[in-house]
Amino acid sequence: MLSFLMPEAASTQASETDAIYLALVGFSLVIVLLVAGLIIVFSIRYRRSVRAERGPLPVIVSRELEIGWTVMTLFIAVFIFWWAASARLSALPPPPGALEIHVVARQWMWKTQHSNGAREINELHVPIDRPVRLVMTSQDAIHSFFVPAFRIKQDVLPGRYTETWFQADKLGSFHLLCAEYCGTEHSRMIGRIVVLRPEDYGRWLSVQPQSDDFAREGEALFVATGCAGCHALSSKVHAPKLTNLYGHVVQLSDGRSVTANDAYIRDSILQPNRDIVAGYEPIMQSFAGILSDGEIQSLTAYIRSLSVTPGENAAAPGQRSPAMVPGGAIERPNSAAPQGGQP
Ligand code: CUA
Repeated sequence: MLSFLMPEAASTQASETDAIYLALVGFSLVIVLLVAGLIIVFSIRYRRSVRAERGPLPVIVSRELEIGWTVMTLFIAVFIFWWAASARLSALPPPPGALEIHVVARQWMWKTQHSNGAREINELHVPIDRPVRLVMTSQDAIHSFFVPAFRIKQDVLPGRYTETWFQADKLGSFHLLCAEYCGTEHSRMIGRIVVLRPEDYGRWLSVQPQSDDFAREGEALFVATGCAGCHALSSKVHAPKLTNLYGHVVQLSDGRSVTANDAYIRDSILQPNRDIVAGYEPIMQSFAGILSDGEIQSLTAYIRSLSVTPGENAAAPGQRSPAMVPGGAIERPNSAAPQGGQP
């Protein structure tokens, strides 16, 4: 109906998002027309020069009718809330086997990194018909990753990770915009998402300058930054070991317990004295200002690769496993980890 007003739809999420949007517009339109129509009718019918009946109104509205329309509009409002909220909630967790891509936003560009280490600036190449999960963070201001054709928009925040995912179902090139005012050149913080056939994506990926995949890069950093000095299995220092940490519950010295996820690992690196693991001394220094966001992402990927069970998305064995990386199986120190079904 109003689809000519909508941006091109190129993802699996798009049709339902559009349906909800158009239903809301349609519903509002009906009410606006009803109210505006009555205003016009009454202002003509009861204008000053007309001799119309102006006494007390006869009772034409029964209590049943009044209750009826109140309940009906309430029902419609609750239905729309339920519809939109359930569509949003069910769209939140990425499906198993989603391709993981890291996004770092900064003033004023988008930096994306594929799981084999290939990097892009203001561009992102993805395969068609495959879920793509974005793990995003910002180096400075708040940005917002907005792809109108995919109907996704997710804030990208400094100091923490946000995630979103999409599955493109149309080949081509689509606008990537920043949808949060982030400074002078906010309006020029634009890029494009290029959707390729799987074989073309594989070819594209294989000719990108190779660098290490996330986890392997993280492993190198783990040694180079000195983390291994305390956290390696062989270390004599009394520090929490990281094997099978990711996705598991950690007891803290103040009695709380937390699940070791991306945010927890990030906090532990940047503010190590905030959450002290039960049984350990607060001896670690902060790595704020020493490690970049990209490096923390890589370290997190490495720590994740040390866990047998995947973290938050437990329904997706191997989903976070670096083994899904095209062309990159990595060696793990404790290699009982389940392997994802990906090549
Ligand atoms: Cu980044 Cu606006």
